[in-house]
Amino acid sequence: MMDELLDLTVGPVAHGGHCVARLPDGQVVFVRHALPGERVRAAVTERRRGYLRADAVEVLQPSPDRVEEPCKYAKPGRCGGCDWQHATPEAQHELKTAVVRELLTRIGGFTVAEVDDLGVRVEPLPGGPLGWRTRVQYAVDAAGRPGFRKHRSHDIIPIDRCLIAHERIQEAPVTDRTWPVKGGGVEVVASSCGDLTIFTRPRGGRTPRLVSGPRLVRERAVGREWKIDATGFWQVHPAAPDALAGAVLDFLQPRPGERAWDLYGGAGLFAAALAPALGPEGRVTIVESSPGGVTAARRNLADLPQVRVVAGDVGTVLGNPRWRSVDLVVLDPPRAGIGREVVAAVTARHPRAVAYVSCDPAAFARDVATFRERGWRLSKLRGFDAYPMTQHVELVGLLTPVS
Ligand SMILES: C[S@@+](CC[C@H](N)C(=O)[O-])C[C@H]1O[C@@H](n2cnc3c(N)ncnc32)[C@H](O)[C@@H]1O
Repeated sequence: MMDELLDLTVGPVAHGGHCVARLPDGQVVFVRHALPGERVRAAVTERRRGYLRADAVEVLQPSPDRVEEPCKYAKPGRCGGCDWQHATPEAQHELKTAVVRELLTRIGGFTVAEVDDLGVRVEPLPGGPLGWRTRVQYAVDAAGRPGFRKHRSHDIIPIDRCLIAHERIQEAPVTDRTWPVKGGGVEVVASSCGDLTIFTRPRGGRTPRLVSGPRLVRERAVGREWKIDATGFWQVHPAAPDALAGAVLDFLQPRPGERAWDLYGGAGLFAAALAPALGPEGRVTIVESSPGGVTAARRNLADLPQVRVVAGDVGTVLGNPRWRSVDLVVLDPPRAGIGREVVAAVTARHPRAVAYVSCDPAAFARDVATFRERGWRLSKLRGFDAYPMTQHVELVGLLTPVS
């Protein structure tokens, strides 16, 4: 059954790195390795109630946006890491823009006219579509070989070189040997200041073990040098921290003396960007749940007297009524977004503006819908291609109270 072939006319892009096609009976097929408008022959990979998944294995009529995938692994049945290697960079930005627009209408409840007014366009970051990724996690197979997982599968495809990885990661002595962490992972970090660190993660996510390089890698962002634990969170595109922080500052327009919260703050990137504008009378409070993030924020922002770091879950911390009003809020949650409880807790403190940084446009659209229910509007939106060749995108939205 899985070898069943379908001849399809490919329709619009959808969230998830695929396009939508329909069979003559109306059945939906999510097709990977295809582009809107193409005629393709596709092999069925999965049958679900209500839809099929398929991979385009032959292109009968190509899109003008199609190019040869630069990577030999970016093919049907091989590495599942990249989704759009077969599209020009410009077409990738258009595909991602279309996905953001579609999610804002379907999940966010926006009209097409409202989405048009926002004028969102996913913008490239400096650097090309290859060689950008500064943090790479290889999965290690049963023979100890590093590789990446197939799409929607636990199977690992051993690889010798990942072309979207930073050149120093491609050259690192990782893919030419086996690793004694079968079922675990080997990870490489190439920091913006030139550090290269390799560590392994045993199966089951147990404590990482440093193999080579410094445990604390140096990064440069928002005019500062940072020391970040190689195993902790940092944006994977080297241009992302400055681009996102720049958009947040531009949207929030912080004023001297204001109070701000940097929620899901990690090492405190946005707090560090806000602090100089708030001046000595201002205050920024970071809320971060992971002990590593809290340590990183305390270590890196010790010279900024107006920054305070609170360890804890955002929902629990804001559940405390002693957290009263605030002027500005930055939200930068993990993929799941913030949810209704945190939207309610933030809007109840009447900030004049909220900057929402998101790596999942579906969760973002859902949370923005909750803000809108509570009398807020999405005033501005920018999208950044912080993950070229993949389906992923980074959004920064400005939310303001309507009255
Ligand atoms: C996308 S990262 C953003 C980090 C930081 N803003 C940056 O740009 O480097 C999300 C952060 O939220 C933290 N986090 C996840 N769930 C949380 C929660 N419920 N409460 C507080 N922090 C949380 C994670 O540990 C992580 O540091």
